Amino acid sequence: MQSIINQLSSEVGAVFVSLSLPKEFGFVTRSSRAGEAPFQCNGAMAAAKSVKKNPRDLAAQITNKLQSSPLIKSIEIAGPGFLNIIPADSLVKNQAAELAKDERTGANIVTDPKKIVIDFGGPNVAKPMHVGHLRSSVIGDALQRLLRFCGHEVISDIHLGDWGLQMGQLITQLQLEQPKLVYFDDDFDGLWPKQPPVDIDDLSRMYPLASAACKEDETRMQQARKATAELQGGRAGYRALLDHFIAVSIAALKIDFAALGVHFDLWKGEAAVNPLVAPMIEQFKQGGFTELSDGALIIRVAKETDKKELPPLILVSSAGAALYATTDLATIVDRKDNIAPDVILYVVDLGQSSHFEQVFRAAGKTGLFDENALEHIKFGTVNGTDGKRFRTRSGGVMRLSDLLQQANDAASKRLTDAGLAQEFDENERSEIARLIGLAAIKFADLRNQRTTNYVFDMQRFTAFEGKTGPYLLYACVRMKSMLRKAKSAGISVGEIDPVVKEEKALVLMLDGFDQALQSTCDRRSPHILCEHLFDLAQAFSKFYASCPVLAANGSAVQSSRLQLVETTLRQLQTGLGLLGIETPERM
Ligand code: ARG
Repeated sequence: MQSIINQLSSEVGAVFVSLSLPKEFGFVTRSSRAGEAPFQCNGAMAAAKSVKKNPRDLAAQITNKLQSSPLIKSIEIAGPGFLNIIPADSLVKNQAAELAKDERTGANIVTDPKKIVIDFGGPNVAKPMHVGHLRSSVIGDALQRLLRFCGHEVISDIHLGDWGLQMGQLITQLQLEQPKLVYFDDDFDGLWPKQPPVDIDDLSRMYPLASAACKEDETRMQQARKATAELQGGRAGYRALLDHFIAVSIAALKIDFAALGVHFDLWKGEAAVNPLVAPMIEQFKQGGFTELSDGALIIRVAKETDKKELPPLILVSSAGAALYATTDLATIVDRKDNIAPDVILYVVDLGQSSHFEQVFRAAGKTGLFDENALEHIKFGTVNGTDGKRFRTRSGGVMRLSDLLQQANDAASKRLTDAGLAQEFDENERSEIARLIGLAAIKFADLRNQRTTNYVFDMQRFTAFEGKTGPYLLYACVRMKSMLRKAKSAGISVGEIDPVVKEEKALVLMLDGFDQALQSTCDRRSPHILCEHLFDLAQAFSKFYASCPVLAANGSAVQSSRLQLVETTLRQLQTGLGLLGIETPERM
């Protein structure tokens, strides 16, 4: 369906065209000033300038032609040539009917669907997840849901970090602890044991030990480097160990991500593309794209127009190892061969900007992939209330499960303080607290423009007032309760007839959903949808404060308002679902 804004834009655009001016001048937008008119068109000024006319004269000409439009109730000129537009009552009423009967409350499906790979999450095997991985997971998951909802074909991939030095560090640590394991026996020629030699607690204990030892002791570091090189060179025992480490980590990560409500289609990692590395490098060499530099094999990616110098991408280090950029390029080969996407999105922190710039340019230069179809979806850091990078209370790196527990506890306390959910049984209350905790964390992250940093403040995130997840959940729950009451009172939904100012404003807000979704997807920016949902909840509050629903005068008014509540709830819940936020039935 066409939003009111689009319908008005076509109508006004046609008038510009009739005056031999481009239709783009007719773009209608939501009014930025609080006034009677909800829409405005600012094109008359620019159009007048382009043909050297007086802007107010041109505006008057346009207004005259639009007086009889069935879509417009009134159009007035303000200031130097702004056009303030009030839509016709019938237009608003028709639109309300369309929105109410549309399952998607006005959200259109794109006309040019793309096949999109989205690479997010990216935790490293054995290393604990940090808050950057959490941001990537929350933003990436929202984007995969949004893009899918809008009609794109989306394939998500967690892209585990399972191929770097940390693997060699783990292997050497394990050898120190359990030297007799068959994986270290050069003469072993049987089948590798099915049972992993370590569990996730072992891995979490061993990695910090190994990493600290390597920092202090150069010999340990040498051993770890050697083990990494041997692993990458194909040493079978090490490869078998790596497979165990990966399997054990994935099992644990699946539990963490399920708790977060985040899903991945593919659980691939850097190690999976290792067989593609050698042939890829060979091709790059054949194509004349590589160079030897101080013993390393590199691809130069700097451009003359660069303001900041971009170092070459290192394909093979002087020690003979494939690096992070190498596996990222090989992963593009893999995706191209197996998925053939139109676009690949990488949801990774800002700090890796140069890395992705190098990889994208190298992919473009070698003809591997269109550089412009590779996008780094960057995000900023999360800071503690002390202004420094966010850490847990104990000062260490965050564990996802601890963080979720903390959110849960804070939410539970909020419920008690607000006197909510107190009469429900323990199970239901804790489920509600869980949903509020998740909504708090996710919304607090998504509501910010991606690239800005934000402060992690559980108190603020879990508040029921302000631009928070819990506020939006509470708004949904209020609407659900109203619908339940209406049902038991035998009141049913009916045709929406927006008469009162607040009713009309709510319909127009609902009508903005499609545009908000489109810009969210186009700009890969969930905060735009967050803003829309918050505005919608506020428009609902205003409506609710001045328009009684169940106690309205007359059954037609009751049914009309009830339908408006039902439609608002559907849109709010759909929108929250797209952000990965689930709503409880009551609280
Ligand atoms: N494992 C990486 C890290 O922890 C993130 C992976 C991002 N994705 C990618 N294709 N490089 O920094």
